[in-house]
Amino acid sequence: MRPAVTVRPIAAADVPHFRAVLDEVARERRYLAFEEAPPIERIAVFVEANIATGNTHLVGLVDDMIVGWCDIVRDVSRPTRRHCGTLGIGILAQYRGLGLGRLLMQQAMAGAAASGLKRIELTVRSSNQRAIALYAQLGFAHEGCQRNPIMAEDGYEDRDLMAYLVPEQPKQAA
Ligand SMILES: CC(C)(COP(=O)(O)OP(=O)(O)OC[C@H]1O[C@@H](n2cnc3c(N)ncnc32)[C@H](O)[C@@H]1OP(=O)(O)O)[C@@H](O)C(=O)NCCC(=O)NCCS
Repeated sequence: MRPAVTVRPIAAADVPHFRAVLDEVARERRYLAFEEAPPIERIAVFVEANIATGNTHLVGLVDDMIVGWCDIVRDVSRPTRRHCGTLGIGILAQYRGLGLGRLLMQQAMAGAAASGLKRIELTVRSSNQRAIALYAQLGFAHEGCQRNPIMAEDGYEDRDLMAYLVPEQPKQAA
C-alpha cells in the first residue's frame, strides 16, 4: 500500500525536522548548491521570516513525519524584482517517487500565485533529470544553461535555469 502523503505550511516548531531533512538531502551532494544544512539558528531565521512575510514554505509528510519541503522566496532585493520568487525543493531519498514532489510543487505554486508572485525561478543541475521532468510537466520553461557553475566530486557540472510565469487572471466584469 502506498503511504499517505500530505502537505502543509511549515510552522516554527518544524525547524529542527526541516533542518534534518535539508541536511540529509544536501549531504547527498548531487542535488543542492550546498553540502550540508546551515546552522539551526540561521534556519530558524529563514523559516520565521518566511512565515512572517507570507513566503510560501511547505513541508511534505508521510504518515505525519516531515520528509520534504518546498519554499518559494520572494526577491525583495530590488523593486524591479519583487514579482519574482525562487523555488527550492527536496525530499528524503526513500520517499521519492511517491507523488509528494508533484503535490508540494502544485501547492507551493498555487500559494505563490495567490501571494501575487508573477514569476517563479529555479536552478537545477543539468544531471537532475527527475527534477527537470517534474518542473517541465508543471509548466516551467528552460531559459538557459550555466556552464560549470558547480564543482562536484567528479568534476564540474552545468546548471539549467528554468522559470514559470503565473498566468494572468481574466479581469472580473464590473
Ligand atoms: C525532484 C523531487 C523533488 C521530485 O519529487 P518526487 O516526489 O520524487 O516526484 P514525484 O513522485 O512527485 O514524481 C513527479 C515526476 O517526477 C518525475 N520522476 C519521478 N521519479 C522519477 C525517476 N525515478 N526518474 C525520472 N523521473 C522521475 C516524473 O516526471 C514524475 O511524474 P510522473 O509520475 O507523472 O511520471 C525529488 O525526487 C527530490 O527531492 N530529489 C532530490 C532533491 C532535488 O533534486 N531537489 C531539487 C533540486 S533543483
